[in-house]
Amino acid sequence: MTRTQLIKPRIRELLSRELPPELVRMIPKHWVRIGDVLILPLRPELEPYRHRIAEVYARVLGVKTVLKKGKIGGEFRETNYEVLYGKDTVTVHVENGVRYKLDVARVMFSPANVKERVRMAGVARPGELVVDMFAGVGHLSLPMAVHGKARVIAIEKSPYTFRFLVENIELNRVQDRMTAYNIDNRDFPGEDVADRVLMGYVVRTHEFIPKALSIAKDGAIIHYHNTVPERLMPEEPFETFRRTAEEHGYRVEKLNELVIKRYAPGVWHVVDDIRVFKR
Ligand SMILES: C[S@@+](CC[C@H](N)C(=O)[O-])C[C@H]1O[C@@H](n2cnc3c(N)ncnc32)[C@H](O)[C@@H]1O
Repeated sequence: MTRTQLIKPRIRELLSRELPPELVRMIPKHWVRIGDVLILPLRPELEPYRHRIAEVYARVLGVKTVLKKGKIGGEFRETNYEVLYGKDTVTVHVENGVRYKLDVARVMFSPANVKERVRMAGVARPGELVVDMFAGVGHLSLPMAVHGKARVIAIEKSPYTFRFLVENIELNRVQDRMTAYNIDNRDFPGEDVADRVLMGYVVRTHEFIPKALSIAKDGAIIHYHNTVPERLMPEEPFETFRRTAEEHGYRVEKLNELVIKRYAPGVWHVVDDIRVFKR
């Protein structure tokens, strides 16, 4: 048996000594590990035992801190996860050879977006200029600088998240080709500069289409993310992008469309790769 196969029985065995059997059946079977911090989804029935449960998971899984999974929200897509065990919520997560330092209690890092982070590492080309309009800690654009050797301008509005973005550029030794700005992307002065624009945002991404178009060069590719109700698929989100682009004097060509994850019941997170041409 592998170590992973032994983990769940071990946790169950330890908690069976303290929790009633009906609650033991409810302990989490899945969790997310980011660096050495664990995010645990907990049912309300387990609340009175949450600190003890977290301690057992921490010991068995060998993590320094355990957080209770909560909601992600607001303009900065911040998490607000309760600390159940440990203190330090800042960690370095290594994925696909990229080092991401972040505060897991406050900054979102979705395991479901891993395929997209890996895909971006593969699409970037040496020397091309990528503008990441919603950089976070460098989720999507660090892999492009590290593996694709692309030049990157990373824009992040939240001052707290920005600190990690700056650290990650150094941690991954891409200072020679990646620069970060702590501004609202609508105030970015560059026009007609990018070979590729990243729009890794959800819910309100369509509001930023005109800005993305102005940053893009003629023939550039825009990676347009958004959340879409299932009943509007497959036309959306491309239809909104096409309409807005045409209103601003651009022609568009859809190259690719991928579903990233289920965002909420009946709502999907989708990304379209779109080439844009000035008319
Ligand atoms: C959800 S994170 C996404 C990170 C990454 N792009 C991804 O897809 O995994 C979006 C980031 O955009 C930032 N943001 C939101 N509005 C912004 C704006 N107007 N200008 C610059 N950054 C913004 C948020 O603070 C947040 O860190």
